[in-house]
Amino acid sequence: MASNKVIINDVGPRDGLQNQPKILDLQQRLALILALEAAKVPEIEVGAFVSPKAVPAMAGTADLFPLLPKGSAVYSGLIPNMKGFELASKANVPLMSLVVAASNTMNEKNIKMKTEQSVDVCREVLTLAKSKGANVQAYVATAWECPFEGAIKADEVYRVTEQLIDAGATGIVIADTIGAANPAEVASLMEGLTSRFDSNILSCHFHDTRAMGLANVYAALESGIRKFDASIAGLGGCPFAPGASGNVATEDVVMMLEQMGYDTGIDIPLLLKASDLAIELTGTATGGNAKNWMEKHYNK
Ligand code: COA
Ligand code: ZN
Repeated sequence: MASNKVIINDVGPRDGLQNQPKILDLQQRLALILALEAAKVPEIEVGAFVSPKAVPAMAGTADLFPLLPKGSAVYSGLIPNMKGFELASKANVPLMSLVVAASNTMNEKNIKMKTEQSVDVCREVLTLAKSKGANVQAYVATAWECPFEGAIKADEVYRVTEQLIDAGATGIVIADTIGAANPAEVASLMEGLTSRFDSNILSCHFHDTRAMGLANVYAALESGIRKFDASIAGLGGCPFAPGASGNVATEDVVMMLEQMGYDTGIDIPLLLKASDLAIELTGTATGGNAKNWMEKHYNK
């Protein structure tokens, strides 16, 4: 039987902040990370090692890592290519996340390579990572739908996932980059994946564009997935994927899981404080759909 423990990775400091009209400085980014850490969020995506010209909000990510408290959350950083791996290695990033879109057009818009070229780059990075003992996982983006190419075939996702696992990725995050999947499609793809690969190395990343974020988390849970990305206060979106709105909010996901008897280990009153801070810092985040209710029902 699958465990009742669920790991939450808060991607607010990366996916959340990369697309905001307001660019936060390093102290503000650090304050958000520390608020999540105080709420005992077990994994936090600190930022991205990408071109500061492409994503100005992620400039200076390397400077955040030495400032993070030791021995609590697992901190990760996104890397699109070998240069990202080199920069993240230099900053001693404990967990790095490669990203490959299952769709060629999305991958080209995002990181200027076709999917196959990107997989080759991932192979090089993962080989080097292995020799250095670095922990590198990989995202499979636009796993259900691409904003340019439409529906993605499950076989494409299986193929890229297999290539990345064979190359040595320590985990695979299946991402609905634009929030287009519905729960039936999530169940179908995740059941296909869990029948082919170990469910312990799979996790899911949902955006709430069409209000199906929580339903999709539930569908993936039923397929045996026990690790999810979510974003504090529902921040999120990709600057290169038209129509991508915020990620499913961490507070909503945690509330649903805890009410269903799952254990996230997260301190909900402190998580609500982190959500307040995300709203205050960005001026655009609205907070999860359940936040008002949660404020009344969990001691703040
Ligand atoms: N981090 C920082 N800078 C990088 C980099 C990285 N990982 N990879 C390349 N660069 C720099 C190069 O040094 C070069 O700098 P210069 O103009 O000062 O000489 C410049 O970016 C262009 O290099 P090139 O290899 O030609 O990259 P590109 O123009 O093909 O762009 C990416 C590729 C991946 C760097 C760029 O598209 C990018 O950063 N995209 C952001 C993706 C992202 O964050 N998406 C959202 C999350 S999924
Ligand atoms: Zn995302």
